[in-house]
Amino acid sequence: MQGEYRFAHRHIISIDDLSVSDINHILQTADSLKEISTRAIKKVPTLRGKTIVNLFFEPSTRTRLSFEIAAKRMSADTYSISATTSSAVKGESLIDTARNLQAMGPDAIIIRHASSGAPNLLKNHVQASIINAGDGTHQHPSQALLDLMTVKERKGRLEGLKVAIVGDITHSRVAHSDIIGFTKMGARVHVCGPNTMLPPGLEAMGAVRHRRVASAVRDADVVMALRIQKERQRDPLIPSLREYATIFGINREVAALARPDALIMHPGPINRGVEMSPEVADGGQSVILEQVTNGVAIRMALLYLVLGGSD
Ligand code: CP
Repeated sequence: MQGEYRFAHRHIISIDDLSVSDINHILQTADSLKEISTRAIKKVPTLRGKTIVNLFFEPSTRTRLSFEIAAKRMSADTYSISATTSSAVKGESLIDTARNLQAMGPDAIIIRHASSGAPNLLKNHVQASIINAGDGTHQHPSQALLDLMTVKERKGRLEGLKVAIVGDITHSRVAHSDIIGFTKMGARVHVCGPNTMLPPGLEAMGAVRHRRVASAVRDADVVMALRIQKERQRDPLIPSLREYATIFGINREVAALARPDALIMHPGPINRGVEMSPEVADGGQSVILEQVTNGVAIRMALLYLVLGGSD
């Protein structure tokens, strides 16, 4: 006989660590917590007395603010440190930073770092729950979860959908988390981008590789464009942004190849006119701002669950 399901994760490092049941549970929890953000008084006492530190060593608008809003809506105390205002600029190591944070007794540390594996390293040196808010080119699990939530809300299912992801797949932690997340939930992920931005091993992750954007997008239920991650490229990987926009940009003509009810997505920040044209980003099929709204609900769910709110 199957036992009762229980969310058993203290850390959220990679979407790979989550089972289908875990993902469904996170989505259901986010769905029920989402309503709090529509109330006149957007606050519940669920995490009162908990201390959450945002440790962001890379820039962020959506992830950092939505984690902070999520924590505050559940009455946790939140504190933010960025790379430029921390003693990392004076040479303090990540582990020493973490040990010093731990000495102040936080319950959770949310970390974004340029190095793949930084959150995993941190979790071995502190007692606090660690949530990965994006590490190098590795993973961005909360982004994948909010993407799954947005698609499931709109389509009513994930299984059997065609999801096209176009852009810099090699350097995108969003792509890596989304390919794993959507595939795990029964969707078929098709990827396309310049050869220099398509890593080996995509097929082993369950994705279908395309050379032409038209074949990736044709009849898709979801079209997601990704930013070129220039900050993670040592040498230029494309001749020019204009050329990239012409060949791989999601414009009205390309979007029209997808199903008429296809969702247009982007994790942000968007470089308008490069990976996506403004009329597509702002068009009727775009759910880009719904992704941001759902980001708060997903992050509320993650904080609630890792801090012991599984009941
Ligand atoms: N999607 C995302 O991670 O956006 P930010 O870099 O603004 O957090």
